[in-house]
Parts: sequence; C-alpha cells; structure tokens
Amino acid sequence: MSTAPKFVIGNWKMQAQHERGLTLAGDVTKALEDTPPPSHIRTVICPPYTQLSGVNHILRKHDLPTERISLGAQDCYPAPSGPFTGDISAKMLTELGARYVILGHSERRQNHGETDAVIRQKVKAATAAGLIPIVCIGEHLAERNEGRAASVLAGQIEGSLTRGFRGIVAYEPVWAIGSGITPSHEELQRKLSLIRALLPMRLMTDDIRVPVLYGGSVTSVQTPSLLSIDGVDGVLVGSASLEAQSFLDIIRAATEVPSSSPS
Ligand code: 13P
Repeated sequence: MSTAPKFVIGNWKMQAQHERGLTLAGDVTKALEDTPPPSHIRTVICPPYTQLSGVNHILRKHDLPTERISLGAQDCYPAPSGPFTGDISAKMLTELGARYVILGHSERRQNHGETDAVIRQKVKAATAAGLIPIVCIGEHLAERNEGRAASVLAGQIEGSLTRGFRGIVAYEPVWAIGSGITPSHEELQRKLSLIRALLPMRLMTDDIRVPVLYGGSVTSVQTPSLLSIDGVDGVLVGSASLEAQSFLDIIRAATEVPSSSPS
C-alpha cells in the first residue's frame, strides 16, 4: 500500500545571501543523503530567484531522486514572455530546474497588491509550464477576530484556484507568520475541515485530493502535532528553513508522524 506524501517546504523569502544559501542547500542535501527520510517525505527548497540555478546544481549533485528533494521558486509572472521588466516567467523557472512555485503568499498579496484574479492567472501560467503551484491562502488577524475567516478562505479558494487545479494549497494565517504564534489544534482542525470542504466545490470534483499544508511559525517542536491533524499534508516553513539544523529537525519530526495511505 502506498503512503500519502508529506511535504516539508522551505520558503527562504529574501533572506539568505548567495554563499550562505548555497551552503545551507548543501548541508541539507548532504544530511538527507546520509540519512534518507522515508520515501513519502517530499522536501522542497524555495530560494530567491538569484540562487535557483546554484541551489539546483547542489541538489542534483547529490544522489537523491528529484521527487525526494526538489527546487521551488517564490513567484512567477502570468505571461509566458514579453516586455515585463523585472519579472520572471514560469518557463524560465523550469529552465533553472524548479518543479514547484509558491503563488499568492500573503507577503505578495500585501506588498505587491496581488489579487485572487492575478494569482489565478499565475496558477494557469505555472501549470502550463509544468510547475506545481503552491497557492497560499489565509486570513488576517482582524478578519479572524471579526469571525470572517471562513468567508475570506472561501473567497481566496474560489478566486485564486483554477477549476482544474492540480497543485498544493498552503493555509498560512497571516497572524501566524513570523509571530511565533500557531493556531490551536482545535482551530487548525476547524480551518482544515473548512478548506477540505471548499476545495471540491471549487474543483467541481471529489476525485482529486489536493494536498493542504500549514504554514506560520512552524518549528520542529510543533511539527508532530501539526501533522497529526487530519487533513494536514505538510508544512510550509519560513525562518526555521534558514538554518540547516532547524530545517532538518522539522524533516525528521515529519518522518516520525505515523503516515496514512492516500484517500
Ligand atoms: P515563518 O515560518 O517565518 O512564520 O514564515 C511562514 C511563511 O510565510 C512561509 O511561507
């Protein structure tokens, strides 16, 4: 019987200088090569654009299959090419070895005014180029406190996913990112059930099981309890992915969670 994959995805954001990023990627890959996690653990490293090629080179230098440790980018542009100064197309990312791309992160929604409609265009572009989109959704603190989280999540799922979506959804409550606060077990369970109920409505089918990850102040300490929640298929890690040891601790913690067969 096959085991459902568990994703551990590191989002470096704009935070590792070039040499440090390459060292970090090398340390993580070497440790995974020396002590390989079980095959259902999927590790993905998402460095800044400028480090994609270098990190890819390091990942592929080691003897680990691509699906066990992959490269991801942090964004892409919706158009395949054209006069878009400063932007990067999905195809350009695949040329550098990326298999995944994070889209609609709250920092992009907030700092770049990205709307659900723009994110949906990016999802289409990424999918057309052969990338697996990781679409981030999540409510702000005020929306949560005003009891509007459910409608925010419903709007983001409806607006930013395509009907034939084949990718990953990351639930990242904005108030949990970089704050050291994670939702309680009960709250996360409620949100996950809601997201799981909304997805088939958007996709118009029950047949596709979209992996849903949690992100926001993830460390190795909470990873076992986060991954024990029904419907959580992995973690999207920010600051704890910037040190090899803390990222490896999260990967190891994920391997210790009893795995389920795919439903
Ligand atoms: P932190 O893990 O630093 O809270 O960041 C989470 C995040 O935004 C991952 O995409």
